[in-house]
Amino acid sequence: MSMADRQRWDGKYSAKNFNAPESHPSEILQTYHDCAGGTNAWDLACGAGRNTRYLLQMGYQVTALDISPVALERCRCIADNAGDRLQLLELDVDTWMPPDAKADLVCVTRFFQPRLIELVHTLLKPGGIFIYESFNERYAQRRPDMSPRFLLPLGYLRNISDGMEIIHLADGMPGQYYISRAVLRKPL
Ligand SMILES: C[S@@+](CC[C@H](N)C(=O)[O-])C[C@H]1O[C@@H](n2cnc3c(N)ncnc32)[C@H](O)[C@@H]1O
Repeated sequence: MSMADRQRWDGKYSAKNFNAPESHPSEILQTYHDCAGGTNAWDLACGAGRNTRYLLQMGYQVTALDISPVALERCRCIADNAGDRLQLLELDVDTWMPPDAKADLVCVTRFFQPRLIELVHTLLKPGGIFIYESFNERYAQRRPDMSPRFLLPLGYLRNISDGMEIIHLADGMPGQYYISRAVLRKPL
């Protein structure tokens, strides 16, 4: 992640007219979060916190992290009553060394980084689940301006699922062929 990327995200979240494109939680998180066997949840690249807020509402202890301090401030605001059930971390996942086997659930939405699966493997407890949703390379047809480095290669989720239990896997759904999703469980 370059400094320019961080500034771009800070600028986006600072904009007066910033309106979270979607303030509702991801459907895949709502559908599958209770496959997790415990309440320690992590929201990586949490943005303004729509999924963090949902996890808190569902009773999880949440660690939410993002490179943008402005995003984290927004996240803190919407999760006002969380108290010590919410920990916010400002960090760059490109260089982050996650702690071992902490999480019952790791949620990542609308974010792609090639070392994501390595981080998730380390962070998840055995039996923990990874819930993922992001734009795949077909999205370039709708948004040719978007850098391909942020788009998930087709087939990537199947490749990284090796050795994990597949609870759900889809490289595009009817009407949303440009979104890929996975719910994977780390073996015991
Ligand atoms: C499209 S937003 C998605 C936010 C949230 N997950 C959601 O679905 O609403 C992508 C987020 O990734 C964060 N981000 C980008 N690069 C990052 C990095 N290297 N480390 C941590 N966060 C990063 C940005 O600041 C931004 O908040």
